[in-house]
Amino acid sequence: MIRFEENFSLKAFNTLGIEAKARYFFEFTEMEDLPYFLANFPDWEKLPVLLLGGGSNMLFVSDFDGLVLHANVPGVQQVKEDRNHVWIEVGAGENWDRFVEYCVGQWLGGIENLSLIPGNVGAAPVQNIGAYGVEVCDYVETVKGFDMKTFEEYEIPASECRFGYRDSIFKHELKNRFVVTSVVFRLDKFVEYKLGYGDLKAEVERRGGENIHFVRDAVIAIRESKLPDPEKLGNAGSFFKNPVVVNDVATKLKDGFPAMPIYPAGDGESKLAAGWLIEQCGWKGFREGDAGVHEKQALVLVNYGKASGKDIFELAVRIQQDVFNRFGVQLEPEVNILGA
Ligand code: EPU
Repeated sequence: MIRFEENFSLKAFNTLGIEAKARYFFEFTEMEDLPYFLANFPDWEKLPVLLLGGGSNMLFVSDFDGLVLHANVPGVQQVKEDRNHVWIEVGAGENWDRFVEYCVGQWLGGIENLSLIPGNVGAAPVQNIGAYGVEVCDYVETVKGFDMKTFEEYEIPASECRFGYRDSIFKHELKNRFVVTSVVFRLDKFVEYKLGYGDLKAEVERRGGENIHFVRDAVIAIRESKLPDPEKLGNAGSFFKNPVVVNDVATKLKDGFPAMPIYPAGDGESKLAAGWLIEQCGWKGFREGDAGVHEKQALVLVNYGKASGKDIFELAVRIQQDVFNRFGVQLEPEVNILGA
């Protein structure tokens, strides 16, 4: 299936629910459709290109005067198995949480802590999604796709994806150039649960102890208690990254603000909790017009209905300034901001 539209509303393609238009929008369900389309679309190289998945990590500040590509490739297929692992190839257009649910249903372990993260499978390695002590990079074998610069199809092993905290090669050298069409995951047959984060262990125990279904249920319950459902309240999850600072800076901050949560981040660095910093500046639950800060998680900006991309962006800038003035820490957006 292919679909080509002009002046296309992206409102249904971003979970913040922002009204913005794409000059051109192309959706495809088979990798082969993309080179064919590009070869027949005059001068596409002169246009800005945006690769859009589920739009769960995107803020459109204005209309996008370019070409949006939406790889809606379906499919979930086991490709290999050995004594300890199962490898599954999943199309970029599959819903992430449906895939987690599928793995949990098969008792295949690894990604159960990543339950209920919104978005599509194709974006998971781009953003290196993470939650409750697990990052998806630990379960990615290879990322397959199409390079629009060389017009080649190839796969990139996880070791070459330069995964970092909410980061990968797909946000740098290969940004808006390598279109992810499928991802091969390596899941564990013998599951080792990772329950060290926050109150996850207690939630799992309350349900009857270590069992992949209970872990998924517990993660879902914790997420639902803090994070708004994008179907009901527009949001893009954490709007900012948790800042990583050198240990010296963290120690000084802790002296000044003893209650500040600080986590070791390896390599002489520490991670701060952006949500805490924002809450301390008084933003939690703030609302102006239809743009706001979620009342249960200050790291999440929300659209109560008719906020524009500019409204959300301006709110984000005010929050950044406040946090910087109070703590000397620069918050970096976690969402991709377009058109600011
Ligand atoms: N906190 C506050 N006030 C707030 C929010 C948080 O004081 O309004 C404090 C909490 O009390 C806790 C600390 O900050 O001490 C961390 O909070 P939480 O466990 O809720 O997680 P987070 O650091 O705010 C990160 C990820 C989330 C992920 C959770 C759980 C980032 C940017 N965010 O949030 O990921 O679900 O941990 O692992 O790393 C996302 O990326 O979109 C996302 C939701």
